[in-house]
Amino acid sequence: MISDQTLPAGPAAHSPRPAPTPAGEPPDPAEHMGREELRALQVERLRHTLRHAYDNVEHYRRAFDEAGVTPEDCRSPEDLARFPFTTKADLRENYPYGMFAVPMARVRRLHASSGTTGRPTVVGYTEGDLSVWADLVARSIRAAGGRPGHKVHVAYGYGLFTGGLGAHYGAERAGCTVIPASGGMTARQVRLIQDFRPEIIMVTPSYMLTLLDEFERQGVDPRTSSLEIGIFGAEPWTEEMRREIEERAGLHAVDIYGLSEVMGPGVAQECVETKDGLHIWEDHFLPEIVDPITGEVLPDGEEGELVFTSLTKEALPIVRYRTRDLTRLLPGTARPAFRRMEKVTGRSDDMIILRGVNVFPTQIEEIVLRVPGVAPHFQIRLTRRGRMDHMTVRVEARPGAGPEGREAAADAIARGVKDGIGITVDVEIVAPETLERSVGKIRRVVDERGR
Ligand code: DLL
Repeated sequence: MISDQTLPAGPAAHSPRPAPTPAGEPPDPAEHMGREELRALQVERLRHTLRHAYDNVEHYRRAFDEAGVTPEDCRSPEDLARFPFTTKADLRENYPYGMFAVPMARVRRLHASSGTTGRPTVVGYTEGDLSVWADLVARSIRAAGGRPGHKVHVAYGYGLFTGGLGAHYGAERAGCTVIPASGGMTARQVRLIQDFRPEIIMVTPSYMLTLLDEFERQGVDPRTSSLEIGIFGAEPWTEEMRREIEERAGLHAVDIYGLSEVMGPGVAQECVETKDGLHIWEDHFLPEIVDPITGEVLPDGEEGELVFTSLTKEALPIVRYRTRDLTRLLPGTARPAFRRMEKVTGRSDDMIILRGVNVFPTQIEEIVLRVPGVAPHFQIRLTRRGRMDHMTVRVEARPGAGPEGREAAADAIARGVKDGIGITVDVEIVAPETLERSVGKIRRVVDERGR
């Protein structure tokens, strides 16, 4: 049970509003399962999933046969290491429905990932899958401090993207009132929040920044709004961004994680009372961390690529899916049976290799957001100078920052990047309101190297 006393002092200290009220006894007893009980359930569900995939999906039958494994070879979660990985390329090759394990007549909904290149990946849900999804997003909302009777403003995009509809049905399942705003029309979003007075907002952290700017543009202090809790995900964000949003919005900012291939939002959720990484709902998804290069399974605590096997999915069972997301597994805290994943550092595909040094946009975010005088809006531009790759960090000045302030900020950022990451970058401080704003997932890197 969440009580005001157990909530962190941080946001409450800079927030005029009280901490979220107790969520009450969770209606989902699985949240209080013991670790041993959870493990036994995982094994049973895992074996069922492997058999379901093998019997009903040609791709899995072939892949298991080639690896010389049968579903019955899996007697513990550790045995999963003998099974083949599944990648986005496998889903693309089987576009659109080749990975589905049930007849189309049982599929109630389709979603698709936006995928910037090539075919999108298509995912399907049975009625049972949709119900589990709603349950897990409801569980996530409760972990964030939400409770029945709260109003939830959903500003994740509605459509083929899983964010909007995933949040929507979960919030309804949690007994909340949903305001299905979707993304975009920023001025109207602010008006809706002012008029409808939601306690919770679900949105990407980058779009939340856009909304905060709009509040200020309309002359409204966002700290006076009704919002108490922000459930932010769909893209990486840092502790520095949490502080920025909590201070400006006067709410509790917590992280929600998920991906369409595995379900959508609600695979893992940060608890408001600890804000210490995301509890993975392990009764439905079995996580592993593997070395991104060799694929070898790494022990808990080590950073690597997150891999998921679904345990209850019917339409699209997924075995050892390579998410490309980099993180570590940690023991459970607020929900002791469920392991946590640390906030995602980034995707291996988003890693920039600059003159031999690996850089993630989140590392730049950490540095930029610690420097006074600049706004939290930045962009990373990659160019070629002769045979050398070059990075320019473009950051917006805060409105009213004078020229000396800008120069000092640019120096501080360049120094921070040199000292913290070990690379030399140019820093350009640009005028307020000049960088592209996010209405969903933000694009941090503009690559002009022309490869
Ligand atoms: O982004 C699902 C989602 C919607 C999650 C709303 C949370 C909130 P996809 O479009 O398939 O699904 O993109 C999945 O987004 O592999 C990560 O790289 C990234 N991602 C999602 N949540 C987080 C997060 C949705 N909390 C991809 N932190 C994933 C960091 C995240 N990255």
